Amino acid sequence: MSRRFDVVVIGAGPAGYVAAIRAAQHGLSVACIDEWQNKDGKNAFGGTCLNAGCIPSKALLESSELFHRAQHEFKKHGITIGDLGMDVTAMQKRRASIVRQLTGGIAGLLKANNIEGLVGHGRLLAGKKIEFTPVKGDAEVVDADHVILASGSIPIELSVARYDGDKIVDSWDALEFTAVPKRMGVVGAGVVGLELGSIWARLGAQVTVIEAMDDFLIMADRDVARTAAKEFKKQGLDIRLGATLTSAETSKKGVSVNYEDKKGTHSLEVDQLVVAVGRRPFTDSLLAEDSGIQPDDRGFIVVDDECRTRVKGVFAIGDCVRGPMLAHKGSEEGVMAADLIAGEIAEFNYDVVPSVIYTAPEIAWVGKTEEEVKKSGRPYKTGSFPFAASGRAKAMEQTSGMVKIIAGADDDEILGVHIIGPMAGELIAEAVLAMEFSASTEDLQRTIHAHPSLAEAIHEAALAVDKRALNYIN
Ligand code: FAD
Ligand code: NAI
Repeated sequence: MSRRFDVVVIGAGPAGYVAAIRAAQHGLSVACIDEWQNKDGKNAFGGTCLNAGCIPSKALLESSELFHRAQHEFKKHGITIGDLGMDVTAMQKRRASIVRQLTGGIAGLLKANNIEGLVGHGRLLAGKKIEFTPVKGDAEVVDADHVILASGSIPIELSVARYDGDKIVDSWDALEFTAVPKRMGVVGAGVVGLELGSIWARLGAQVTVIEAMDDFLIMADRDVARTAAKEFKKQGLDIRLGATLTSAETSKKGVSVNYEDKKGTHSLEVDQLVVAVGRRPFTDSLLAEDSGIQPDDRGFIVVDDECRTRVKGVFAIGDCVRGPMLAHKGSEEGVMAADLIAGEIAEFNYDVVPSVIYTAPEIAWVGKTEEEVKKSGRPYKTGSFPFAASGRAKAMEQTSGMVKIIAGADDDEILGVHIIGPMAGELIAEAVLAMEFSASTEDLQRTIHAHPSLAEAIHEAALAVDKRALNYIN
């Protein structure tokens, strides 16, 4: 007789493992299937985020930022050090150790919640049956009352620059470089391109980024994008906009890159080329033909606002469905799906999903950009506060950037908050909470913020919306 679970989750990334834990917290019997294999051949839970995305990138961003600050900032603080050295092997060891601890932690969490962690491939068959093929051993079919598909995403590959795992690489390979490339090319000035470009540029690589769009950081507010462009230029990131890659030829020496822009054809020689042009949903071998589910023409599993697929009892969450490809978005969808399965009322507020780019300065936002509000025709007002006027930012020697708040002109509702500056990724949490509770800028204005803190910049930007900033000329 086949094994039966109340819920079977396929995928143990931040969407899947969170859904599994939440379902178990409801007292449901749960299995979570995952096939992720690291470059050392070992299987690990945690998906892209923990193994090859959010966590390893942040570990290296931290190491490279410390190196950069030691080189360029310590002197200002009156700290002198001898010859500054760098040990990429040690940096990578630290990165790998953080990943190991956290992915091991997920295995522990699954166990503690009595979730059956199944290592291998899962495939949805008809009638909510799942074929599970373990890494070692024979396939079995398990029965489920409910299924949650959380199979994630993989990097898009360009036909003119095929990945070879050595000279033309994806984001995962670029997080595992064992030496700093002298000249590094990046295709795509999106989130991955900027974060990875920052890591290796701070460690000494000469980084050139080729971006197809004419506008920089198209998804961000224009004021933020302009500030970011200036800052990255100062840091030596050479970002070439309106540039489309036409070919990339590898040789023993490196990669000869050709691209086109309005001015014509250009070539570029680099040691390694990182292609970061977006990710696509990963559903290969996930759905049997008679499973009742077919991905759309972009590869996404079609779901409604509650992440229900067209097959009753089958949900899909995270990067394999519409919406931003972000870990926290997938996790919250996982919580919603598990709560709905348990018979609770649950919903997801897609209007207040924060975005963070972990460059220096960090960039974070929630809600609408000024351009989007303008386009909607809704009357609005804005207020900004620069970190150059923040005592805490000055003490930290990190005065670039600002907080900008956009609010409805009639009702003062906060419509968008955009931050570029120190710890923007932490500061945005206040804005997310405010928007989740439909706060007005007056609510923020009347909230006491500790002094001196970076959060005061949010307070002052809220005051500036009504031309009442106290520490800046309105
Ligand atoms: P995934 O994390 O991709 O997990 C899916 C899992 O399912 C994988 O383990 C896969 O092996 C498994 N799987 C798939 N199909 C099957 C199958 N048929 N059988 C068994 N197992 C299967 N997001 C942020 O929010 N913040 C960040 O700072 C951030 N940084 C990033 C940095 C990089 C370099 C990259 C590439 C991404 C980053 N992201 C970040 C995005 C984030 O990693 C994804 O949004 C997130 O991992 C999506 O979670 P998921 O659970 O939907 O999918
Ligand atoms: P992206 O969509 O953010 O950026 C891709 C960029 O490549 C775009 O600017 C696009 O215009 C450009 N591009 C596409 N084709 C091109 C071509 N042929 N030539 C030149 N440029 C081209 O995708 P990215 O950076 O790969 O990230 C993938 C996903 O991972 C994103 O959706 C992001 O949300 C997530 N992520 C999140 C992070 C975070 O939250 N801090 C960090 C890294 C990734």
